[in-house]
Amino acid sequence: MDSKQLELRFLLTLLGVFFISAVAGDENGDYYVGVGIADVTGPAADLGMMGYANPSQSAKGIHTRLYSRAFVFRDGPNTDDPLVAFVSADIGMVDQLIKFRVVEKLNELYVNGPFNPQNVLLSGTHTHSGPGAYLQYLMYGITSLGFYEPSFNAIVDGMVQSIVRAYEKLQPGRLHINSGIVQNANINRSPSSYLANPPEERAQYDSDVDKQMVLVRIEKADGTPLGAINWFAVHPTSMNNTNRLISGDNKGYAEMLFESEMNPNTRPGKGEFVAAFASSNLGDVSPNVMGPRCIDTGLPCDFEHSTCGGLSQKCIAFGPGTNGDMEESTEIIGERQYKVAKNLFNNLDSTATQLKGAVDYIHQYVNMTNYEVEVVNPLTNTTETVTTCPGAMGYSFAGGTTDGPGLFDFVQGELSDNPFWNLIRDVLMLGPLDPVFQQCHYPKPILLPVGLAHQPYEWVASVVETQILRVGNLYIIGIPGELTTMAGRRLRKAVESVVVANAPDSETPHVVIAGLSNVYTHYITTYEEYQKQRYEAASTIYGPHTLQAYLKQYDILAASMLDGTNLDPGTPPPDLSGNQFNLIGKISRDTTPFLKNFGDCLLEPLPIVNPNDTVVVKFAGGHPRHDSMREGTFLLVEKCEECGDDTGSERWTTVATDADWSTKFHWSRPKFLSTESVIEISWKVPADALPGNYRIRHFGYHKPAVSIAATPRAYQGETRIFVVNGTGNNIVYHPKWTSEHKQPSKINSAAQFWHALASSVKDWK
Ligand SMILES: *[C@@H]1O[C@H](CO)[C@@H](O)[C@H](O)[C@H]1NC(C)=O
Ligand SMILES: *[C@@H]1O[C@H](CO)[C@@H](O)[C@H](O)[C@H]1NC(C)=O
Ligand SMILES: *[C@@H]1O[C@H](CO)[C@@H](O)[C@H](O)[C@H]1NC(C)=O
Ligand SMILES: *[C@@H]1O[C@H](CO)[C@@H](O)[C@H](O)[C@H]1NC(C)=O
Ligand SMILES: *[C@@H]1O[C@H](CO)[C@@H](O)[C@H](O)[C@H]1NC(C)=O
Repeated sequence: MDSKQLELRFLLTLLGVFFISAVAGDENGDYYVGVGIADVTGPAADLGMMGYANPSQSAKGIHTRLYSRAFVFRDGPNTDDPLVAFVSADIGMVDQLIKFRVVEKLNELYVNGPFNPQNVLLSGTHTHSGPGAYLQYLMYGITSLGFYEPSFNAIVDGMVQSIVRAYEKLQPGRLHINSGIVQNANINRSPSSYLANPPEERAQYDSDVDKQMVLVRIEKADGTPLGAINWFAVHPTSMNNTNRLISGDNKGYAEMLFESEMNPNTRPGKGEFVAAFASSNLGDVSPNVMGPRCIDTGLPCDFEHSTCGGLSQKCIAFGPGTNGDMEESTEIIGERQYKVAKNLFNNLDSTATQLKGAVDYIHQYVNMTNYEVEVVNPLTNTTETVTTCPGAMGYSFAGGTTDGPGLFDFVQGELSDNPFWNLIRDVLMLGPLDPVFQQCHYPKPILLPVGLAHQPYEWVASVVETQILRVGNLYIIGIPGELTTMAGRRLRKAVESVVVANAPDSETPHVVIAGLSNVYTHYITTYEEYQKQRYEAASTIYGPHTLQAYLKQYDILAASMLDGTNLDPGTPPPDLSGNQFNLIGKISRDTTPFLKNFGDCLLEPLPIVNPNDTVVVKFAGGHPRHDSMREGTFLLVEKCEECGDDTGSERWTTVATDADWSTKFHWSRPKFLSTESVIEISWKVPADALPGNYRIRHFGYHKPAVSIAATPRAYQGETRIFVVNGTGNNIVYHPKWTSEHKQPSKINSAAQFWHALASSVKDWK
């Protein structure tokens, strides 16, 4: 044989190996895996936040950045092997338009590529501290004054980027699944509803919330950790509705702890290891584990209605932080999740198994306004066909929850209506409600018949996405809303039994619920919980049989996926991007205080600070909404290396960005109707901060004062050098450091005057 023949034989052997691994690969648990992370932080100020529907809760800056975390799993080495993409993003919920655009953009990048609406599942962690105004249905724009494109684009671009990063890094790898209990991190916020479920069903569980965390460990073929996904049911509402800084809440904090441990010496969102703390059946689950109490008397609230003296506003649940401090509560609840996740990741015990078997997926669009399902009538014991209803919110929707109470005199558990609110409703809806529609939702007293409102465009979704991703014996159920604890348990059981019936030889299936996926449709309670009409039931928009309809639908999906029957894809919902509008004020221009420039420091740090101190500085800045600095930062805390000598080797290394928990980026106006922006940056010096010379820098954009149409221009500024003090260290002070606590004066110098004048002249051009 000559060398050519040898080469050919070698090539054929190689192909043979590939062929074998492509066919039998998944049976050995060999997948192609990739993980990716990207920034989805949208407009950082002056935009309503998504979650509490509180119009006064508009963003005023950033505590932590928000990220999209993507996980791509492929069955084998070939580009046409079955592939699924699971994404968990630190956002309130995924919207239909987000799903449409993410898949479209992926198909622009990979023409005839592997991505489609069926195998891409997008899930939101449900943080209540992210920017809103990105959802296509009208209902969700009300408190944020409409739809704001930059907010939408930040999420789409970040999600696409994270999926691309995961896909481009696909490599042979393995997956393990493990589960464990998280103690003291969640409570049921509607326990009186939960008690309405049958006693024999409740007797199967030892808690009224799911305490189990399910974790997937992702590693390279050589065992090197790549990433993790876990599902644990809890609302990221440790930060309450008075918070004004963008935050990933308890899930975001847990993600940051896990990732920063696995990616040492990298800033948040920049490391290789990706850990998603994804949402699940969190509908009735609160992180505020101290429970609700009356804020005036400290006594327990009314159990059925969560009121104090008849008012929901006085009944609030608090987290475990000292005196109810929400930031500390976020840390504690985040850390409890992180510790269990890390333990499950590192200790694959006897209950942990390696995932083996096919990669598969199934998806169908269904119209939830008239879904037919058979139920047993408990009064007659006969089977009858019932349907879901066009969407409606009950009175108790406006009562809110103990995590964020609602408005006026609305309370939870409201079974009767009120002529005053009915009149307002009928005036708004141009006529009295159809009795058939009312009957469909019974016993819900209807406040907002949103499913009947089609003007100026749809208020809520009629058509939803239903989806299951399969990776071996892991089944990820993408559900378009928030299932309560018991509703989630019923759905998992239903899918489990379909899997067992259709694939009896396979190992125990692991069924997880990915909440807030693909499109938002509020809550899904059990039929029994629905009768109580607390907030979750009043927000079960398709009526009392919603869960029953989903049980049937996911049963069909799972069975069709396993036996390979084709399913009608269903009719996609409308793309309402052309209908969107907003009443969000434009930023016509930015100005600075007299004789100041953009980026000038207005408040300098103290010359010497100690670990645990908080450094606070201020800058004259531009409006942060010009650019959210996605994938970048509004600030840097930098430490000087090799400072203090004149060898010229001085370097500044990044210690923190605006994504770090230790920093806060805060925007404000000095007074009402001012066009000036005051940027306040704080940095809590970590207990283990290295002693040395530090500075804080700020970056932003400003819109020139005169030319209205001009595009914003970049600016930057920095503080004086300050020293972080430490024991037993000889700090070499930077030559420019001064012990004087000098503050910039109103008019520093003639030079500054001319500088300011010159830059205003530049703006004229
Ligand atoms: C939010 O939390 C803060 C403590 O961090 C507390 O002072 C405030 O009363 C809470 N507000 C609500 C509405 O829960
Ligand atoms: C959903 O079904 C209802 C009732 O049959 C129908 O009127 C409506 O047009 C459907 N919606 C969509 C978006 O197909
Ligand atoms: C319905 O069936 C259950 C169990 O089979 C039985 O206990 C109950 O008495 C029946 N109810 C009626 C109204 O027939
Ligand atoms: C900073 O705080 C930590 C934790 O509270 C404490 O252990 C440490 O001693 C403090 N360090 C200084 C320098 O005060
Ligand atoms: C710096 O740290 C030393 C040792 O902890 C302490 O004695 C000193 O007071 C600190 N200096 C300042 C200015 O805080």
